[in-house]
This record gives sequence, C-alpha cells and structure tokens, in this order.
Amino acid sequence: MEVVINKKEILDELAAKEIIELVKRKPNANLGLATGSSPVGLYEKLITDHKVNKTNYKFVKTFNLDEYIGIPIDHEQSYHTFMYKVLFKHLNINLKNTNFPKQDDPKSYTVLLKNNPIDLQILGIGSNGHIAFNEPGTSFDSTTQYVDLAESTIKDNSRFFDSIDDVPKKAVTMSLKDIMMAEKIILLAFGKNKAEAINQLVNGEKTEDCPATILQTHPNLTLFIDEDAASLL
Ligand code: F6R
Repeated sequence: MEVVINKKEILDELAAKEIIELVKRKPNANLGLATGSSPVGLYEKLITDHKVNKTNYKFVKTFNLDEYIGIPIDHEQSYHTFMYKVLFKHLNINLKNTNFPKQDDPKSYTVLLKNNPIDLQILGIGSNGHIAFNEPGTSFDSTTQYVDLAESTIKDNSRFFDSIDDVPKKAVTMSLKDIMMAEKIILLAFGKNKAEAINQLVNGEKTEDCPATILQTHPNLTLFIDEDAASLL
C-alpha cells in the first residue's frame, strides 16, 4: 500500500486528478463512489474541472457503496439524494448509469459488479474501521448484504439528521469481497477521529474486528490522509 500524507486540499486535488485522468483514458470507466464527508472536497474538484475543461462523463458508470434501509431513496438524507446533490447533477453523467445496492435485492449488486468491474474505487473509513457499511465483525467472505449499523456509526452519522433517533439503524452495503475486486482503490481519511482506524489499517493485524484491514492485501491501494489522520502512525 502507498500512504500519501498531505493537506486535505492537496489530497482532494490529487484524488480528483486520478479520476479525471482515468475518465479521459477510458471514457466508459466504472467508478466506485462513497458518500459521507471525506469525498466531498474531491467531488467539488471534479465539478470545477468539468465546468472548466469539459471532462466528459457521458459514458461513465458509477457504483456507490451503500444505502440506508428504512428511508425512501428520495429522502433528503438518502445516499441517492446525497450523490445527486453533491456530484451527479453537476456533471453530464447519465443518471441511468448511476448504481446503488438495491434496498429490496442486495444480492443483485454482486452480479452487477461482476459484469462491470470497478476501475477505481473511492473509499472513506469509519472511526471504528468500517469500510462501506461493513461494520466490525463482518465476515471477510460475506456478500452484498443487509447490515445493522454499529452504535458508533449511528452516532457519527447523526450530524446529518435532526436527532440521533432519526438515523436509520440498517443499511445495504457493497461487500468487502466486492470492494477488493476493484482494480485500484483510493481511501481518503481526514481528522484525528480517523487516526486509530488508520493506524490499525497500516500497522495492525488483519482481522474482521477492523474490516478495513482486509485492504492490506489489495495490490493497488493508496491512502490519502492528512496529518491528523496519520498522527498515530
Ligand atoms: C459512505 C461509507 C462510509 C463512510 C465512512 C466515513 O458511503 O461507505 O464507510 O466512508 O463512514 O464517513 P465520513 O467520510 O463522513 O467520515
């Protein structure tokens, strides 16, 4: 794994450059995308580039990591809505080419991903070491699935809701196995509350107690992390 430590602004730029170069080289690239706060700066860079340089997303397909269960996909806090607001509506992407795990049929995502291998996967990481919504204790062999969100995840995500009681308790997520199939992975982590999880990922033993440690054996993984997230390395 490669670890790049720098200021967030610079890392957002570097990550955006990776996507832009890929899309120019391969106009029908398959991008794996994440929600949450970590990739928002990167998405802003993609939007600026699209406005200025007209990078073409017409043939790109996107595959998001996860979606909540218990709220409709047009809910203001659903991940469908999030992606539309922060990225999709600003690019010339065909919304028919944007994909999420299905709330009523999680298994179909594994088949879809087999037929559409991801060229570049963008990941965040939970403060508890989750990736996508694969929480600590998830089997490394599980397939795309329904999950109960960990208490810490519900607490972390309550910042987006009026009250912690409004945060869905369940989600549907891309599996660890599916994530590992991506050709290349860039994981973004910023802030002190990610330091423990990043230290586990880089220096800890590979264990299902910290799902992100499965990435240790990925052949093409780059961590883009700021000084705070790197503070325990
Ligand atoms: C989001 C996702 C999650 C987040 C993680 C970090 O689609 O799958 O694993 O990447 O919870 O969230 P932020 O970036 O908000 O700290």
